[in-house]
Amino acid sequence: MSREPDAAELRLFREAEELVTHAYAPYSGFPVGAVAVGPSGRRHHGVNVENASYPAGLCAERAAVAAMVTSGERRLRQVAVAAGPGCDCLPCGACLQALAEFGDPHVVARTGGDVRVFRLHELLTAPFAPGGDEWAADEEDDA
Ligand code: THU
Repeated sequence: MSREPDAAELRLFREAEELVTHAYAPYSGFPVGAVAVGPSGRRHHGVNVENASYPAGLCAERAAVAAMVTSGERRLRQVAVAAGPGCDCLPCGACLQALAEFGDPHVVARTGGDVRVFRLHELLTAPFAPGGDEWAADEEDDA
């Protein structure tokens, strides 16, 4: 289901961890950083941005995806997500759906105390995709 990260994936996770200090999470006290990597290899950063009106808050993964799309990239190859030191944090359900819009990336995150690598389709087996089977369109990425 998941595997150990290679050296590059671990570096990406550490980069997400460094972003945690930029998170704005005064309400939950749970800061999160995310790095989204597109086809060019460029890395796009995001952090969670909370709000006094709680539902107006934004998760780190969706902030990173917004930065990626803003830069002109529309495919996701990798996403690293990190919370505070030692904290587990897999992407929430809403973020899994938001990531699925742009491919079936490798997701690097800590779970059970270990940094692991998943394919997005392992974490979200059935995304909402009105046009049909979202994962079928991405089979060329499976290698
Ligand atoms: N959060 C993220 O940024 N990403 C996730 O995948 C899980 C949750 C944020 C939302 C909120 O600001 C805080 O973590 C606590 O839920």
